[in-house]
Amino acid sequence: MGLLDGKVAIVTGAGRGLGRGEAIELARQGARVVVNELDPEIGKAVVDEIESAGGEAALDTGDCSEDETARGLVRTALDTWGRLDALVNNAGILRDRTVAKMTPDEWDAVVKVHLRGHFLPTHYACAHWKDSGQPGRIVCTASTSGLLGNFGQANYGAAKAGIAAFSTIVAMEMARYGVRCNAIAPAARTRMTEGAYGSLQDRDSEEGEAFDFWHPDNVAPLVAYLCSELAGDISGKVFGVQGDAVELYQPFTSAAAIQNHDTRWTPEGIAARVHELFDESGIVAEVENMMGKLRFSMTDRSTI
Ligand SMILES: NC(=O)c1ccc[n+]([C@@H]2O[C@H](COP(=O)([O-])OP(=O)(O)OC[C@H]3O[C@@H](n4cnc5c(N)ncnc54)[C@H](O)[C@@H]3O)[C@@H](O)[C@H]2O)c1
Repeated sequence: MGLLDGKVAIVTGAGRGLGRGEAIELARQGARVVVNELDPEIGKAVVDEIESAGGEAALDTGDCSEDETARGLVRTALDTWGRLDALVNNAGILRDRTVAKMTPDEWDAVVKVHLRGHFLPTHYACAHWKDSGQPGRIVCTASTSGLLGNFGQANYGAAKAGIAAFSTIVAMEMARYGVRCNAIAPAARTRMTEGAYGSLQDRDSEEGEAFDFWHPDNVAPLVAYLCSELAGDISGKVFGVQGDAVELYQPFTSAAAIQNHDTRWTPEGIAARVHELFDESGIVAEVENMMGKLRFSMTDRSTI
């Protein structure tokens, strides 16, 4: 008995890295999986792997940030297996550059794949769940780069912070239709992060060897859980996930306030009292490297 027996799921960008591990884990838990992946060869390899383990999968090789592909993903699930239970928005790319050097193309490419690539499949899945009255699960893929800020990733971080906000709002809008939507902020060794967490060659550690903390497949069990009925009471949340650690992020929260006795502030008035905000909250006024304070990271990207 798997957690997802009888269910049908879509995973975008499922050919390698985190998406590959997620698609295979969902199938291991009993789900039939629409494997979306731009690169047909590696997408087919994931489908083959699922099928050779006794599961069922269908390949889609479109760009998930294009309308026709996103619509087609939901259609493939419904035409092939007659239902859709879960959508995992995972596909992503990087075009790292500091903001002064970043080109408009580098900005647009990243924002498109992440934000449109989350919006469009979610739109078609939610329209189906709303019309059919069936419940659904969505897992979005944010990043600490967006939640905390990361040097050299203005495009990626802006998109990933947007995904966290998107996920919260989808959770609110779709609650009444029985749809739960959560986001993860993962960290693992993949093509995207090679170097920061070791070499990709490290990944094939043998059974019985020491726990491989940065292995990409460590992320998949949380995603499978969030897609299951066991997580029916969780929605609109952002989870950190890496190695053997699952974290819960707090949303942006007001940490302190000053008021001006029912009168509009002047700039000088604010200047005279703004220190109260920092004193009360303990937050420092200067820019901080929040990534440097992560419990589970060792990324140093300051050379970009
Ligand atoms: N690896 C990490 O530590 C980490 C950290 C934070 C967030 N993430 C996020 O996790 C997700 C997966 O990243 P990964 O590390 O596995 O990267 P990856 O590069 O190993 O895999 C991403 C896959 O998505 C596919 N893809 C890219 N654009 C696509 C599109 N438009 N349509 C369909 N497929 C597309 C790629 O071909 C690739 O196979 C991304 O959203 C990434 O931003 C990863």
